[in-house]
Amino acid sequence: FSVEYHDSVGSTNDRARELAGEGATDEVVLADEQTGGRGRLEREWTAPPGGVWLSVVTRPDIAPAQAPLYTLAISVATARAAREAGVDARIKWPNDVVVPVGDDGDYRKLSGILTEMEGETDRVEWVIVGPGINANIDADTLPESATSIREEAGDVDRRRFVQRLLESFDDHRNDLEGVVPAWRELALTLGQRVRVDRPGGEIVGEAVDVTESGALVIETEDGRETVSAGDCEHLR
Ligand code: BTN
Repeated sequence: FSVEYHDSVGSTNDRARELAGEGATDEVVLADEQTGGRGRLEREWTAPPGGVWLSVVTRPDIAPAQAPLYTLAISVATARAAREAGVDARIKWPNDVVVPVGDDGDYRKLSGILTEMEGETDRVEWVIVGPGINANIDADTLPESATSIREEAGDVDRRRFVQRLLESFDDHRNDLEGVVPAWRELALTLGQRVRVDRPGGEIVGEAVDVTESGALVIETEDGRETVSAGDCEHLR
């Protein structure tokens, strides 16, 4: 990967989209601060100096339906890099990296991922995976439900963190079949009672597994249901 670094940028995903439009591949946009960080579902993402805000432009030979595996791959890579930094990082379905609080499924968010893609129905043109990691940041400057590497384990060498994250992502994208098993090992959601808000409505039950494409299998009162996208909340 080649890395384009910015002290400050609007959104690394926006800059990555520009580069993708120019034909870039395996290019990483990395910033110390974002002034217009974007979250999923059109939300804002707080991205002060000291974080690891990055976006990776790739041109994989995959169908759009496989793109979620790229998101799972970068969440596994992020969780591994955070664990090496001394944080008890786990993954909340589908791809938030969180730190458990207590034993009943409660957590604080360490990282979120914004994935964007363009392409035909049978093959993608590009996929951008954009993880944002609250690294060397005071947790009290972040939303209340968030935590940081500084808060959990002290400051991290961000250069090394990014290097480890990209190495691990590279391993996983070359072994897409191994992504879901690796994800399962880090999952905090499995075994939890969950409520998932999805396009077809809300669904409540126990999260029992993920499928080979990363969809969540939920045991409800009316039987098993599989959910491929949505907002997941752990219940107590
Ligand atoms: C979410 O949990 O809602 C996803 C948050 C994604 C934030 C990252 S920071 C790097 C990249 N650039 C952005 O503007 N957003 C993503």
